[in-house]
Amino acid sequence: MEKVVSGIRPTGNLHLGNYFGAVRSFVAMQDKYQCMFFIADWHSLTTHPKPEDIQQSARTILAEYLACGLDPKKAPIYVQSDVRETIELYLYLNMNMYLGELERVTTFKEKARQQPDNVNAGLLTYPTLMAADILQHRANWVPVGKDQEQNMEMARKCARRFNNIYGVEFFPEPQNFYFSDQAVKIPGLDGSGKMGKSEGNCIYLRDDDKTITKKVMRAVTDNGPQEPNSQRPDVIENLFTFLRIVSTPDTYQYFDEKWNDCTLRYGDLKKQIAADLVAVVAPIREKIEYYSANTELLDQIAREGAEVARESARATLNEVRRIIGFRV
Ligand code: ADP
Ligand code: TRP
Repeated sequence: MEKVVSGIRPTGNLHLGNYFGAVRSFVAMQDKYQCMFFIADWHSLTTHPKPEDIQQSARTILAEYLACGLDPKKAPIYVQSDVRETIELYLYLNMNMYLGELERVTTFKEKARQQPDNVNAGLLTYPTLMAADILQHRANWVPVGKDQEQNMEMARKCARRFNNIYGVEFFPEPQNFYFSDQAVKIPGLDGSGKMGKSEGNCIYLRDDDKTITKKVMRAVTDNGPQEPNSQRPDVIENLFTFLRIVSTPDTYQYFDEKWNDCTLRYGDLKKQIAADLVAVVAPIREKIEYYSANTELLDQIAREGAEVARESARATLNEVRRIIGFRV
Protein backbone atom coordinates (compact mmCIF):
# COMPACT_ATOMS: atom_id res chain seq x y z
CA MET A 1 0.00 0.00 0.00
CA GLU A 2 1.25 3.49 -0.78
CA LYS A 3 2.59 5.47 2.14
CA VAL A 4 1.71 8.98 3.28
CA VAL A 5 3.56 11.26 5.70
CA SER A 6 2.94 14.83 6.73
CA GLY A 7 3.47 17.22 9.61
CA ILE A 8 2.79 20.71 10.89
CA ARG A 9 4.97 22.84 13.14
CA PRO A 10 3.47 23.39 16.62
CA THR A 11 3.46 27.17 16.56
CA GLY A 12 0.15 28.46 17.89
CA ASN A 13 -3.18 26.94 16.91
CA LEU A 14 -4.46 25.44 13.70
CA HIS A 15 -6.25 27.91 11.45
CA LEU A 16 -8.46 27.54 8.41
CA GLY A 17 -5.44 27.67 6.09
CA ASN A 18 -3.91 24.66 7.87
CA TYR A 19 -7.25 22.87 7.91
CA PHE A 20 -8.31 23.32 4.30
CA GLY A 21 -4.73 23.31 2.96
CA ALA A 22 -3.46 20.25 4.81
CA VAL A 23 -5.33 18.58 7.69
CA ARG A 24 -8.50 17.94 5.68
CA SER A 25 -6.36 15.91 3.27
CA PHE A 26 -4.82 13.98 6.18
CA VAL A 27 -8.30 12.95 7.30
CA ALA A 28 -9.34 11.89 3.80
CA MET A 29 -6.16 9.88 3.24
CA GLN A 30 -6.11 7.83 6.43
CA ASP A 31 -8.66 5.35 5.07
CA LYS A 32 -6.97 4.79 1.73
CA TYR A 33 -3.25 4.84 2.45
CA GLN A 34 -0.81 3.77 5.09
CA CYS A 35 -0.45 7.13 6.84
CA MET A 36 1.65 8.65 9.56
CA PHE A 37 1.23 12.18 10.82
CA PHE A 38 3.52 14.08 13.11
CA ILE A 39 4.11 17.34 14.93
CA ALA A 40 7.25 19.04 13.65
CA ASP A 41 8.64 20.36 16.94
CA TRP A 42 12.28 20.20 15.78
CA HIS A 43 11.43 22.47 12.90
CA SER A 44 9.96 25.01 15.31
CA LEU A 45 13.35 25.27 17.11
CA THR A 46 14.57 27.62 14.38
CA THR A 47 12.84 30.39 16.35
CA HIS A 48 14.06 29.24 19.82
CA PRO A 49 10.79 28.55 21.71
CA LYS A 50 10.87 28.47 25.54
CA PRO A 51 11.61 24.99 27.01
CA GLU A 52 8.51 25.15 29.21
CA ASP A 53 6.28 25.65 26.17
CA ILE A 54 7.59 22.81 23.99
CA GLN A 55 5.45 19.90 25.21
CA GLN A 56 2.31 21.95 25.68
CA SER A 57 2.55 23.30 22.11
CA ALA A 58 2.77 19.76 20.78
CA ARG A 59 -0.26 18.71 22.85
CA THR A 60 -2.22 21.66 21.50
CA ILE A 61 -1.73 20.56 17.90
CA LEU A 62 -2.30 16.92 18.78
CA ALA A 63 -5.70 17.77 20.33
CA GLU A 64 -6.54 19.78 17.22
CA TYR A 65 -5.45 16.99 14.84
CA LEU A 66 -7.70 14.53 16.69
CA ALA A 67 -10.61 16.97 16.73
CA CYS A 68 -10.31 17.34 12.96
CA GLY A 69 -10.86 13.60 12.61
CA LEU A 70 -7.42 12.02 12.59
CA ASP A 71 -7.76 8.55 14.05
CA PRO A 72 -4.60 7.13 15.66
CA LYS A 73 -5.97 3.60 15.09
CA LYS A 74 -5.84 4.20 11.35
CA ALA A 75 -2.83 6.49 11.24
CA PRO A 76 -0.26 6.79 14.03
CA ILE A 77 0.40 10.35 15.19
CA TYR A 78 3.78 11.14 16.70
CA VAL A 79 5.94 14.00 17.86
CA GLN A 80 9.00 14.48 15.63
CA SER A 81 11.47 14.80 18.52
CA ASP A 82 10.41 11.38 19.89
CA VAL A 83 11.93 9.68 16.83
CA ARG A 84 15.67 10.35 17.09
CA GLU A 85 16.40 8.13 14.08
CA THR A 86 15.35 11.04 11.87
CA ILE A 87 18.48 12.95 12.82
CA GLU A 88 20.80 10.25 11.51
CA LEU A 89 19.12 10.31 8.13
CA TYR A 90 19.20 14.14 8.22
CA LEU A 91 22.98 13.96 8.59
CA TYR A 92 23.42 11.59 5.64
CA LEU A 93 21.12 13.63 3.41
CA ASN A 94 22.91 16.86 4.33
CA MET A 95 26.14 15.44 2.90
CA ASN A 96 24.50 15.48 -0.53
CA MET A 97 22.90 18.93 -0.37
CA TYR A 98 24.76 21.99 -1.56
CA LEU A 99 25.00 25.39 0.07
CA GLY A 100 23.98 27.22 -3.09
CA GLU A 101 20.76 25.30 -3.60
CA LEU A 102 19.77 25.57 0.07
CA GLU A 103 20.38 29.32 0.00
CA ARG A 104 18.10 29.67 -3.01
CA VAL A 105 15.01 28.24 -1.24
CA THR A 106 12.45 31.05 -1.02
CA THR A 107 11.33 30.23 2.52
CA PHE A 108 14.96 30.43 3.67
CA LYS A 109 15.39 33.82 2.03
CA GLU A 110 12.12 35.02 3.57
CA LYS A 111 13.06 33.83 7.06
CA ALA A 112 16.53 35.34 6.72
CA ARG A 113 14.82 38.65 5.98
CA GLN A 114 12.32 38.25 8.86
CA GLN A 115 14.92 37.27 11.49
CA PRO A 116 18.23 38.81 10.32
CA ASP A 117 19.82 38.30 13.76
CA ASN A 118 19.09 34.58 13.75
CA VAL A 119 19.97 33.13 10.34
CA ASN A 120 21.01 29.79 11.80
CA ALA A 121 22.16 26.63 10.02
CA GLY A 122 18.93 24.87 11.05
CA LEU A 123 17.01 27.38 9.00
CA LEU A 124 19.28 26.72 6.02
CA THR A 125 18.90 22.93 6.28
CA TYR A 126 15.18 23.05 7.07
CA PRO A 127 14.39 21.32 3.75
CA THR A 128 16.83 18.49 4.52
CA LEU A 129 15.14 17.81 7.86
CA MET A 130 11.79 17.83 6.11
CA ALA A 131 13.17 15.40 3.52
CA ALA A 132 14.38 13.12 6.35
CA ASP A 133 10.87 13.22 7.91
CA ILE A 134 9.44 11.97 4.65
CA LEU A 135 12.14 9.63 3.34
CA GLN A 136 12.61 7.77 6.65
CA HIS A 137 9.21 6.20 5.98
CA ARG A 138 9.85 5.93 2.22
CA ALA A 139 6.61 7.83 1.71
CA ASN A 140 4.98 8.20 -1.70
CA TRP A 141 2.60 11.07 -0.93
CA VAL A 142 2.79 14.19 1.20
CA PRO A 143 -0.34 16.26 1.76
CA VAL A 144 0.72 19.90 2.19
CA GLY A 145 -0.40 23.34 1.12
CA LYS A 146 0.85 25.20 -1.92
CA ASP A 147 3.53 27.08 0.03
CA GLN A 148 5.41 23.82 0.60
CA GLU A 149 6.00 23.06 -3.09
CA GLN A 150 9.63 24.15 -3.04
CA ASN A 151 10.42 22.15 0.11
CA MET A 152 8.85 19.15 -1.60
CA GLU A 153 11.03 19.74 -4.66
CA MET A 154 14.05 19.59 -2.32
CA ALA A 155 12.79 16.36 -0.75
CA ARG A 156 12.57 14.79 -4.22
CA LYS A 157 16.06 16.05 -4.96
CA CYS A 158 17.37 14.38 -1.76
CA ALA A 159 15.76 11.09 -2.79
CA ARG A 160 17.05 11.23 -6.37
CA ARG A 161 20.54 12.20 -5.35
CA PHE A 162 20.89 9.46 -2.78
CA ASN A 163 19.68 6.90 -5.33
CA ASN A 164 22.09 8.24 -7.98
CA ILE A 165 25.15 8.47 -5.76
CA TYR A 166 24.78 4.89 -4.53
CA GLY A 167 23.31 3.46 -7.72
CA VAL A 168 20.18 2.18 -6.00
CA GLU A 169 16.42 2.56 -6.40
CA PHE A 170 15.84 2.90 -2.68
CA PHE A 171 13.90 6.08 -1.97
CA PRO A 172 10.69 6.75 -3.90
CA GLU A 173 10.32 10.39 -4.98
CA PRO A 174 7.58 11.75 -2.72
CA GLN A 175 4.78 13.58 -4.50
CA ASN A 176 2.60 16.44 -3.24
CA PHE A 177 -0.96 15.42 -2.55
CA TYR A 178 -3.78 17.93 -2.91
CA PHE A 179 -7.28 17.40 -1.61
CA SER A 180 -8.89 18.79 -4.73
CA ASP A 181 -7.42 18.73 -8.24
CA GLN A 182 -5.46 21.87 -7.40
CA ALA A 183 -3.59 23.15 -4.37
CA VAL A 184 -5.87 25.46 -2.39
CA LYS A 185 -4.52 28.62 -0.93
CA ILE A 186 -6.76 30.04 1.77
CA PRO A 187 -6.58 33.81 1.47
CA GLY A 188 -6.54 36.29 4.34
CA LEU A 189 -9.67 38.35 4.89
CA ASP A 190 -7.60 41.50 5.35
CA GLY A 191 -6.88 41.77 1.64
CA SER A 192 -3.66 39.77 1.79
CA GLY A 193 -3.09 36.72 -0.39
CA LYS A 194 -2.58 34.14 2.35
CA MET A 195 -4.07 33.31 5.71
CA GLY A 196 -1.14 32.63 8.01
CA LYS A 197 0.10 32.93 11.56
CA SER A 198 2.83 35.39 10.71
CA GLU A 199 0.33 37.42 8.68
CA GLY A 200 -1.81 37.73 11.86
CA ASN A 201 -5.04 37.33 9.90
CA CYS A 202 -6.19 33.86 10.92
CA ILE A 203 -9.55 32.37 11.73
CA TYR A 204 -8.67 29.60 14.19
CA LEU A 205 -10.40 26.27 14.71
CA ARG A 206 -10.61 27.33 18.37
CA ASP A 207 -12.46 30.57 17.59
CA ASP A 208 -16.02 30.75 18.93
CA ASP A 209 -18.99 31.47 16.66
CA LYS A 210 -19.05 35.16 17.50
CA THR A 211 -15.35 35.63 16.81
CA ILE A 212 -15.60 33.82 13.47
CA THR A 213 -18.59 35.93 12.44
CA LYS A 214 -16.85 39.13 13.51
CA LYS A 215 -13.71 38.26 11.54
CA VAL A 216 -15.71 37.47 8.40
CA MET A 217 -17.91 40.59 8.67
CA ARG A 218 -14.76 42.72 8.92
CA ALA A 219 -13.32 41.32 5.67
CA VAL A 220 -11.96 43.97 3.32
CA THR A 221 -14.19 44.71 0.29
CA ASP A 222 -14.60 47.48 -2.30
CA ASN A 223 -17.47 49.65 -3.60
CA GLY A 224 -19.31 46.76 -5.18
CA PRO A 225 -19.73 45.49 -8.75
CA GLN A 226 -19.79 48.38 -11.23
CA GLU A 227 -20.40 46.64 -14.56
CA PRO A 228 -22.20 43.38 -15.36
CA ASN A 229 -20.00 40.30 -15.73
CA SER A 230 -16.81 42.10 -14.76
CA GLN A 231 -13.75 40.39 -13.35
CA ARG A 232 -13.66 40.33 -9.56
CA PRO A 233 -10.86 42.24 -7.82
CA ASP A 234 -8.63 40.10 -5.56
CA VAL A 235 -10.28 41.02 -2.25
CA ILE A 236 -13.69 39.96 -3.59
CA GLU A 237 -12.35 36.83 -5.26
CA ASN A 238 -10.94 35.93 -1.83
CA LEU A 239 -14.49 35.91 -0.42
CA PHE A 240 -15.66 33.75 -3.30
CA THR A 241 -12.80 31.34 -2.56
CA PHE A 242 -14.28 30.82 0.90
CA LEU A 243 -17.72 30.39 -0.57
CA ARG A 244 -16.40 27.75 -2.97
CA ILE A 245 -14.79 25.83 -0.12
CA VAL A 246 -17.44 25.94 2.62
CA SER A 247 -20.79 26.53 0.87
CA THR A 248 -22.87 24.41 -1.50
CA PRO A 249 -22.46 24.78 -5.29
CA ASP A 250 -25.98 26.28 -5.42
CA THR A 251 -25.05 28.96 -2.94
CA TYR A 252 -21.90 29.74 -4.89
CA GLN A 253 -23.88 30.04 -8.10
CA TYR A 254 -26.46 32.30 -6.41
CA PHE A 255 -23.85 34.82 -5.29
CA ASP A 256 -21.92 34.51 -8.55
CA GLU A 257 -25.07 35.51 -10.45
CA LYS A 258 -25.66 38.41 -8.05
CA TRP A 259 -22.10 39.61 -8.75
CA ASN A 260 -22.61 39.30 -12.48
CA ASP A 261 -25.86 41.30 -12.55
CA CYS A 262 -24.47 43.88 -10.08
CA THR A 263 -27.02 43.23 -7.32
CA LEU A 264 -24.59 41.65 -4.86
CA ARG A 265 -24.59 43.03 -1.32
CA TYR A 266 -21.35 42.17 0.43
CA GLY A 267 -23.12 42.05 3.82
CA ASP A 268 -25.28 39.14 2.61
CA LEU A 269 -22.28 37.34 1.13
CA LYS A 270 -20.33 37.68 4.37
CA LYS A 271 -23.26 36.49 6.48
CA GLN A 272 -23.53 33.38 4.32
CA ILE A 273 -19.80 32.64 4.56
CA ALA A 274 -19.81 33.20 8.33
CA ALA A 275 -22.78 30.85 8.85
CA ASP A 276 -21.26 28.11 6.68
CA LEU A 277 -17.85 28.46 8.35
CA VAL A 278 -19.40 28.24 11.81
CA ALA A 279 -21.13 25.03 10.74
CA VAL A 280 -17.72 23.53 9.86
CA VAL A 281 -15.75 24.86 12.82
CA ALA A 282 -18.19 24.56 15.77
CA PRO A 283 -18.18 20.73 15.97
CA ILE A 284 -14.39 20.68 15.63
CA ARG A 285 -14.05 23.25 18.42
CA GLU A 286 -16.14 21.12 20.78
CA LYS A 287 -13.87 18.15 20.17
CA ILE A 288 -10.76 20.29 20.68
CA GLU A 289 -12.09 21.17 24.13
CA TYR A 290 -12.67 17.50 24.90
CA TYR A 291 -9.19 16.36 23.86
CA SER A 292 -7.38 19.34 25.39
CA ALA A 293 -8.77 18.37 28.80
CA ASN A 294 -7.39 14.82 28.41
CA THR A 295 -3.63 15.24 28.70
CA GLU A 296 -3.04 11.60 29.59
CA LEU A 297 -4.87 10.37 26.53
CA LEU A 298 -2.87 12.79 24.35
CA ASP A 299 0.44 11.62 25.79
CA GLN A 300 -0.49 7.97 25.34
CA ILE A 301 -1.48 8.51 21.69
CA ALA A 302 1.85 10.26 21.05
CA ARG A 303 3.80 7.49 22.79
CA GLU A 304 2.14 4.76 20.76
CA GLY A 305 2.56 6.75 17.55
CA ALA A 306 6.27 7.22 18.22
CA GLU A 307 6.78 3.48 18.61
CA VAL A 308 5.34 2.77 15.18
CA ALA A 309 7.28 5.65 13.61
CA ARG A 310 10.55 4.57 15.22
CA GLU A 311 10.20 1.06 13.92
CA SER A 312 9.52 2.29 10.41
CA ALA A 313 12.46 4.74 10.56
CA ARG A 314 14.80 2.10 11.96
CA ALA A 315 14.05 -0.31 9.12
CA THR A 316 14.86 2.40 6.57
CA LEU A 317 18.02 3.46 8.39
CA ASN A 318 19.37 -0.08 8.54
CA GLU A 319 19.10 -0.23 4.76
CA VAL A 320 20.60 3.24 4.38
CA ARG A 321 23.58 2.34 6.60
CA ARG A 322 24.16 -0.80 4.60
CA ILE A 323 23.97 1.13 1.30
CA ILE A 324 26.42 3.79 2.51
CA GLY A 325 28.81 1.15 3.82
CA PHE A 326 28.36 1.34 7.59
CA ARG A 327 27.96 -1.53 10.00
CA VAL A 328 24.29 -2.24 10.72
P1 ADP B 1 1.49 29.29 8.85
O1 ADP B 1 1.75 29.82 7.47
O2 ADP B 1 0.27 29.85 9.44
O3 ADP B 1 2.70 29.40 9.75
P2 ADP B 1 2.31 26.60 8.47
O4 ADP B 1 3.41 27.15 7.62
O5 ADP B 1 2.65 26.03 9.80
O6 ADP B 1 1.21 27.74 8.67
O7 ADP B 1 1.51 25.52 7.60
C1 ADP B 1 1.17 24.21 7.99
C2 ADP B 1 0.45 23.53 6.84
O8 ADP B 1 -0.74 24.26 6.48
C3 ADP B 1 1.28 23.46 5.55
O9 ADP B 1 1.00 22.24 4.88
C4 ADP B 1 0.77 24.62 4.75
O10 ADP B 1 0.95 24.42 3.37
C5 ADP B 1 -0.70 24.67 5.13
N1 ADP B 1 -1.19 26.07 5.04
C6 ADP B 1 -0.89 27.09 5.88
N2 ADP B 1 -1.52 28.23 5.52
C7 ADP B 1 -2.25 27.92 4.40
C8 ADP B 1 -3.14 28.66 3.54
N3 ADP B 1 -3.41 29.94 3.78
N4 ADP B 1 -3.69 28.01 2.50
C9 ADP B 1 -3.44 26.69 2.27
N5 ADP B 1 -2.63 25.94 3.04
C10 ADP B 1 -2.03 26.53 4.09
N1 TRP C 1 7.55 22.47 6.52
C1 TRP C 1 6.20 22.12 6.90
C2 TRP C 1 5.41 23.41 7.19
O1 TRP C 1 5.96 24.42 7.48
C3 TRP C 1 6.18 21.23 8.11
C4 TRP C 1 6.87 19.94 7.87
C5 TRP C 1 8.05 19.52 8.42
C6 TRP C 1 6.45 18.88 7.00
N2 TRP C 1 8.37 18.31 7.96
C7 TRP C 1 7.43 17.87 7.09
C8 TRP C 1 5.35 18.72 6.17
C9 TRP C 1 7.33 16.69 6.36
C10 TRP C 1 5.25 17.53 5.45
C11 TRP C 1 6.22 16.52 5.54
O2 TRP C 1 4.22 23.34 7.16
